[in-house]
This record gives sequence, structure tokens and C-alpha cells, in this order.
Amino acid sequence: MVEEVVQSTPSSKSRVSRGLVGRSTAKRLSDINAEIDERLPLTIGEFARVLGGGVVPGSVVLIGGDPGIGKSTLLLQVALEMARQSPVLYTSGEESERQIKMRALRLLRDDASDNLPIPEDLYLVTETDLEAILAQVSEVKPRLLVIDSIQTTTQPGLESSAGSVSQVRECASRLRELAKSSGIAVFLIGHVTKEGAIAGPRVLEHIVDTVLYLEGDRFHSYRLLRSVKNRFGATSEVGVFEMGERGMTEVANPSEAFLAGRMVNAPGSAIAVTMEGTRPLLVEIQGLTSPTSFGNPRRTPNGIDFNRLLLVTAVLNRRLGLRLGEQDIFVNVVGGLLVGEPAADLAVAAAITSSARGAPVRADSVLIGEIGLSGELRMVGQMSARLREAVNLGFKNAIIPRRFRRGEPWPKGIEVIEARSLRQALDQALLPDTGENYDTGH
Ligand SMILES: Nc1ncnc2c1ncn2[C@@H]1O[C@H](COP(=O)(O)OP(=O)(O)OP(=O)(O)O)[C@@H](O)[C@H]1O
Ligand SMILES: [Mg+2]
Repeated sequence: MVEEVVQSTPSSKSRVSRGLVGRSTAKRLSDINAEIDERLPLTIGEFARVLGGGVVPGSVVLIGGDPGIGKSTLLLQVALEMARQSPVLYTSGEESERQIKMRALRLLRDDASDNLPIPEDLYLVTETDLEAILAQVSEVKPRLLVIDSIQTTTQPGLESSAGSVSQVRECASRLRELAKSSGIAVFLIGHVTKEGAIAGPRVLEHIVDTVLYLEGDRFHSYRLLRSVKNRFGATSEVGVFEMGERGMTEVANPSEAFLAGRMVNAPGSAIAVTMEGTRPLLVEIQGLTSPTSFGNPRRTPNGIDFNRLLLVTAVLNRRLGLRLGEQDIFVNVVGGLLVGEPAADLAVAAAITSSARGAPVRADSVLIGEIGLSGELRMVGQMSARLREAVNLGFKNAIIPRRFRRGEPWPKGIEVIEARSLRQALDQALLPDTGENYDTGH
């Protein structure tokens, strides 16, 4: 519950002067002027991809994410780049001018050549007062306006404090009106609450055109930029970045990055193919079982859902007779990725079984499939796309659910093994226990 002070209603005069209202007459749709592709191009390809192909003039984009995940970094990079073509205004209510300048210098540092120059057309204002920001906008006349962050921006005249529901909503609507009437693209940075939603009213997500989330594990360098709402492109697109000294760099081949450092033929490791939007990603799933020392056995998932782990464990226990009752189970998705899909069930089951039996999973196999309660293997969507990605990364075979309807043939270059049940799949996936300790190198 948030207390909200009722303001005297703004006079109709001020609403008219803000644009949108009061000058509308019905027009023929065919008469309305709209160039088809007027997006501003971006060389940060992963970012453009998530936006649906570039920045749409007059659009409002909200970028949310946990503290310290890299929101300011990413948008400063975008601002630096856009400023090479047209004026950009970056406003910050959170950091000093010096801090931002230092970050910009760090982002532009280049070992190979001299440092890249700071573009002339990037303007900076450290301000929280929306009226002052709007005054600067009419001064600078930017193509792109970045607000860092919407929670620190305040509309004078409203009594509630910065970041409150009414402030956030009012500021966001003012900025939307600015964007729609002037054609300036506006990027808003939004903080995320503990529960993971963008702080402030849910209505904020309705006001803007596009909502992006920057996600990732703070202890890993990978960041996923995910679109959850987009009026100008497909949702559930993701961009993959790596956060480093020089800011966010695009990861051209994410699957390869997530598989780097894998120990081939070690028990307890399996490769799953998960879909992030329309993009297949290969990830390594690790399982470890270890005797419970006291009390209840523990189930510790990292990167997969806790209940999913319980389900897979229960099926292994009841349908395959794997004794896990006195074993602690740890499951880890390498690289800090969150895998929400049931399609990773089979790889999770294989990783656990592999560790429990000390038998490695075939190193050149990918495992895809959802596990049902009777121990059956269920088909998952977009199988061809998943298999193609596995082929691209040089995997030799794939263990997948049996399909009952013949569709298009599976992609070439990979041996596809169809299994009806989890038991069949694991028989195919696990190598016999060689009795050797894979780790004898030490
Ligand atoms: N010199 C550096 N080298 C590598 N990474 C750095 C360096 N300086 C900062 N970082 C990274 O940048 C992160 C902060 O990024 P940024 O300020 O863009 O996050 P943010 O999402 O805007 O955070 P906030 O919510 O606090 O505004 C730090 O957590 C750190 O990981
Ligand atoms: Mg920030």
C-alpha cells in the first residue's frame, strides 16, 4: 500500500500545451505519413536485435535490472554511439558528471590504437527535476534522451517523494508525451524491486512502448538483455553480452561461450539446448550427489527451478530406482544462466544419474526433452532449431523424445536418437563406468 496525495486536477490548459490532447481530428489511415524503416541504426547489434532492428524515433524504452548489473553502462555505450550521428542528451540523477565522464573514458579506452574520441554531440546533465530536464531537451534538441533513472526523476509540484507511485507515473507520462510529440527516442532506466518487478506502478510498463530487462548473475560476467514487451518487434528476443572493463561487449556465439571450460568425460555433466526467445543456446548442466551427513537430504538448484529439480529427482527415484533418498543433490547451470524450460529436464536427470553412478555422459551428445511423471519423455517445441545449433557447435548426436507424428526430417549432420522413456534415454546417454578416476591428473 502506498499513500498517494490527491493533487488538484491540472487545468485543461496545461494538458493542451503538453501535446497529444486537444488538437486531434480524425484522419484517414491512408493519409498518415510513416516511412517504413526510419529506425536509427545501432552498431551494438545485440541491442538492436532486442529492440527489433534499431531505435524507433518517438518510442519510449524502459530498461530494468538489478542494482549494479550494468544498466547505466549499457545505456552510456548506446549514447556514445548514437552521438556519432545525432545529438544525444544523457541525464543522470544518480551519479556526478565526473563519475560519468570517467566511465565514458573507460568505455572508450582502446589498447590497440589511441583512445577513441568522445563524440561532440553527447550532452550530459545531472538533474532530477523533470522541468529542468525538459528545458535542456528544448535547448539541445536531441534525437535520443536517456533518463537515469526514472525513480530519481521528480515532477515539481507533486508532493510525494521521488520514486513514489505518483511521481514515477507522472514523470513517465510527461516523457511519453514529449517522445510522441517531438519524435525523440527516450530510454528510461528503471530500478527493480526485491521481487524482481520494475519498482513503481505496474502502469509504468503500460506507458512505455518497450520493456527490456537486463539480467545476469552478479558473480558471472554474462548479461542477458531480454525484451518482455515490444510494440515495434518480437518479444522474448534476447541479446547476450559480456560485462568487462570496457563495458558490455556482444557475445557473438553464446553457446560456445557457455560451453568453454567444460571437462569432457567427467561424470555429472550434460549438455542441454534451451531456447531463449527464438535463439537456441547450449548450456552445460552439472549435477553432484553426495551422501547426506546429517538430517534431511538437501536439494540445491542453481539456475533451474527448485520444484523442477524435486520432480526430476522423484522420477529418478520411483521410475528408475535410483537411490537418492540419502544423497544431497546439487545442480548447477554453468555461466550463471537461468533455465526456466522443462526441455532441460533430461539433461538435469542425466547429470544427476551420471554423478550418482560415476559414469560420464557421452561428451558429443546433447540431451533435450521434458520428463513426465510416469518417466516418459515428452516432446518440446522448436526441436529443429535446437538440433541445428548443436550441429553448428560440432555435436555428433542428440538424444531427444520419440515423435509420433512424422514431420520434416531432422537437420543433417547429427545422429538423432529418439527415446520413449527416461530410462531408454539414459541408457543411450551414459557411458559405462570405466572405473577410472577422470581426475587422476592431480
Ligand atoms: N573498471 C571496471 N572494470 C570492470 N567492470 C567494472 C568496472 N567498473 C565497474 N564495473 C562493473 O560495472 C557495474 C556497475 O555498472 P552500472 O553502474 O552500469 O550498473 P547499474 O545497473 O547502472 O547500477 P545502479 O542500479 O546502481 O545504477 C559494477 O557492478 C561492476 O561489475
Ligand atoms: Mg546506474
